[in-house]
Amino acid sequence: MHEPQRKPDDDLILRVEDLAVHFPLGGGLFGRERRLLRAVDGVDLSLRRGECLGLVGESGSGKSTVALSILGLLKPTHGHIVVDGREVATDSQSADRKALARTVQIVFQDPYASLNPRQTVRRTLEDPLRVHGVAAKSEIEDRVATMLKHVGLRPEQADRYPHEFSGGQRQRIGIARALILNPKIVICDEPVSALDVSIRAQIINLLLELKDTLGLSYIMISHDLGVVEHMSDRVAVMYLGRIVENGDWREIFERPAHPYTQALIAAIPDPLRHAPLATTGGDLPNPLNPPNGCAFSPRCRYAEAVCRSEPGPVLETRPDGHAVRCWRSEEIAGQAALASSLSGHP
Ligand SMILES: Nc1ncnc2c1ncn2[C@@H]1O[C@H](COP(=O)(O)OP(=O)(O)OP(=O)(O)O)[C@@H](O)[C@H]1O
Ligand code: SF4
Ligand SMILES: [Mg+2]
Repeated sequence: MHEPQRKPDDDLILRVEDLAVHFPLGGGLFGRERRLLRAVDGVDLSLRRGECLGLVGESGSGKSTVALSILGLLKPTHGHIVVDGREVATDSQSADRKALARTVQIVFQDPYASLNPRQTVRRTLEDPLRVHGVAAKSEIEDRVATMLKHVGLRPEQADRYPHEFSGGQRQRIGIARALILNPKIVICDEPVSALDVSIRAQIINLLLELKDTLGLSYIMISHDLGVVEHMSDRVAVMYLGRIVENGDWREIFERPAHPYTQALIAAIPDPLRHAPLATTGGDLPNPLNPPNGCAFSPRCRYAEAVCRSEPGPVLETRPDGHAVRCWRSEEIAGQAALASSLSGHP
């Protein structure tokens, strides 16, 4: 990371501005036709200190690409990422990368695939401390033992290998590895979707507890709005590389203004939830050949001629901070509120 290039905003620990990540792909028989896959296209996000931002969207919407860019592991095509007042450099030197790794860490979806099967838990947790030189030799053992207790494991389990643990315990090790360097931001990329339903709540509760105890800020990535509903202060909804709705979690869940958000909420498996507000069939369009106008128009039950015209809707932010990318959002939000009041549920 370079020295601060702009005035740091003390309240914001992360600012992502106009982020684009385009992958050039070879096409045609001899790879002559180069095409651009716009995995992320003009994304703005911010994260306040101590906040949990839910980032949701179906598979392929660009969530992990945003995460990898923030971690400095993917080079953005353009845009700015400012972490704790410092711009993440796209051509960063190893010292900058190390500084970034001490500030932002990630918990991956599959704890088994992301742990080295030939390394004991102790080695997994000690290596980052050594590489970053952040703990004296005499302190390392204590730091590992304390971290294991934080995540609900016993220090004497440190000499075991990943295969000796259950799925939930492995994810606890993944969380310990992410936290061992005392980061300020943790990106949780689908942290419970590979786990048994019966233990998901335990891991979510652990993450919430650690956030408070250690004063962390989270980006909680999930294709399932049900997961972020319980954790997030704010929610950003992604569709085909763009944010389509962003706001306070209560606004998003009680007054969803974008048809796609409404469809995601309707898909939350909750028997107490009222009838779906809207349903969405079909798949995410091919990102190499996105639809004209609004990218959601081929699947949107509210689509009209204006929705298919060029250019598509822009993300409009209301005075209360609720932002929506839809030509008809006011009308649609009104209908959703009416459906909600008729169903008798909040
Ligand atoms: N290295 C890459 N090269 C080419 N295309 C890529 C690369 N990484 C991601 N993509 C494409 O970018 C788009 C966004 O992918 P991404 O993994 O960010 O989505 P996601 O929202 O995290 O999905 P999931 O929920 O499945 O994890 C997809 O179309 C994907 O195929
Ligand atoms: S702009 Fe039109 S097609 Fe797009 S989400 Fe809104 S109503 Fe649907
Ligand atoms: Mg992903």
